Amino acid sequence: MWTYPKVVAHRGGGRLAPENTLAAMQCGLDYGFRAVEFDVMLSKDGIPVLMHDPEFGRTVAGSGSVSNTLAQSLTQMDAGSWFDPRFSDVHVPTYEAVFHFCQAHGIWMNVEIKPVPGFEQETGTVVARLTSEWMSKTEHAITPLFSSFSLDALMCAKQSAPDIARAYLLEDYDPDFLNALQKLDAVALHTDHKKLTPEWASAIKQAGYGLMCYTVNDIDRAKEIRAWGVDAICTDRIDLIPFQA
Ligand code: G3P
Ligand code: MG
Repeated sequence: MWTYPKVVAHRGGGRLAPENTLAAMQCGLDYGFRAVEFDVMLSKDGIPVLMHDPEFGRTVAGSGSVSNTLAQSLTQMDAGSWFDPRFSDVHVPTYEAVFHFCQAHGIWMNVEIKPVPGFEQETGTVVARLTSEWMSKTEHAITPLFSSFSLDALMCAKQSAPDIARAYLLEDYDPDFLNALQKLDAVALHTDHKKLTPEWASAIKQAGYGLMCYTVNDIDRAKEIRAWGVDAICTDRIDLIPFQA
């Protein structure tokens, strides 16, 4: 069963702000969103930071990689200029900073654990352990939902923080999806709306799982897949799809 918000801002602010930054979270908030998805991976010194690509070059200029860079350097890197020069003072945030921002503003988080290849278990463990620790120190903490394409990362998250719910991310249909959901003791499956069929949606719902689709940027498409049983959508167009839609 899906007990979470029905419209989630992808990477914080969708296409309206530099992804996976505090500016993105603020942008989502400005549009009334109290639900965000973002991507988390580990720096060289094992600090979780928000980043989608393991290599620099797209949202952060230059060459190099997240797993070879210390968190202290990452958090000084410009993660906003690629989007618009007015965001040139926006840096790569730590997960800790974003976690506290979201908690302070009542924003529910879908934390996508996005390990650099080879760091699946470590990333799942660290993200889950820290989340649990920060939650225990936060008054009226909102429990996030972990998700990942990595079964290994989610299994480690389950071990480190069993009380924080998990969703399995699949890019495409996998006939083994129910086994994976059971193994993870997951609450939901997240998938690309373009890969979803009415039959698959029905099988997920009949088995009792929540279903979220990314990245739905058209209100008519949102309505169509909701009729198939989709519980929630993750969108880049927070300007077109209202949070209460
Ligand atoms: O969590 C949903 C979606 O964000 C997964 O794909 O590549 O945008 O992280 P990606
Ligand atoms: Mg993501």
